This record gives sequence, C-alpha cells and structure tokens, in this order.
Amino acid sequence: MGKISVLFVCLGNICRSPTAHATFQQLIEREGLSHRVVVDSAGTGDWHIGHPPDPRSTQAARRRAISLESLTARLVIEEDFYRFNYLLAMDQKNLQALKEMAPANFKGQLGLFLDFAERGDYREVPDPYYAGHEGFELVLDLVEDASQGLLTHLRARCL
Ligand code: 4NP
Repeated sequence: MGKISVLFVCLGNICRSPTAHATFQQLIEREGLSHRVVVDSAGTGDWHIGHPPDPRSTQAARRRAISLESLTARLVIEEDFYRFNYLLAMDQKNLQALKEMAPANFKGQLGLFLDFAERGDYREVPDPYYAGHEGFELVLDLVEDASQGLLTHLRARCL
C-alpha cells in the first residue's frame, strides 16, 4: 500500500497551516497511521521563511496538547505538486495561488481544507494574524474539526 501525502498551505506558514500540520500529524499518530500518511505545511508568502510558528499559535496549540515547536516556515515550491497527493489551502486566496502555480500535469487534489469540515459554518480558516486571542482559538476549532473529516475521507478512499 502506498503512502498518502498532505500539504497544508496558508499565507505565512506561521499560524494556520502549521496548526493544521501539527494537529493532523498528531491525529495520524494517535490512529497508528504514521507509516501511511506524510504531513507537511508551507506558505505562499515569503516574509517568514525559516521562522518558527507565531508564538500565539504555539501557545494556543499547547493548551490543547498540540506541539508546534519543531516546525519552521517555508515556501510552497513546484516540487510540492509532484510530492503531495493533497494540497489543502486555508482560504480561497491561497487556493488561487496554488492553482496558478500548479504544473499542467499535476495529478493530485487541490482544495480548501474546510471542504473536509464536519461543521458547515466556515469555508475558509480566517487569518488570525491581526486578530486577537479568539482568532487563534477559532483556527484550532476549525482545524481540529476538519482534521477529523479529512481522516474520515482518507479512510474511505485510500487508507
Ligand atoms: P498564516 O498567517 O497565513 O496563517 O501563517 C499570517 C502570517 C503572517 C502574515 C499574514 C498571515 N503576514 O502578513 O506577515
């Protein structure tokens, strides 16, 4: 059985996509699926390359026993379209950026992460960068829900 690979994408790769990366990774580990699923994250903007996640994201995640400490921001690169089966954007703007970058022969899935959400009230994960504390809690709420939905989807399709 082959591996499934998922890349989470936001703008800075310091708030939303690292939160999704660590949350989904932890779920995969808990389910004993680490040998079957590869998880990573990247950004479409270059301001924070090489930086750790935003401390506000790290602290909010830590309160839910999710660790962002080991992550480092990087840009989406063309090779990602060959390495990953699923490239999941946090919002429409980043999905559009991915569509513009995708090579003509890209065979994977491009979509919004919240297409896998079980709750139906948000299509996009709102950018928390200029928001207050509650913006970071909302990111975690949405990401935890969509992670469950994505796992259910992968189990039904390919795990
Ligand atoms: P992210 O949040 O895309 O969830 O990582 C942002 C981080 C940084 C900036 C914008 C959004 N910024 O403008 O620097």
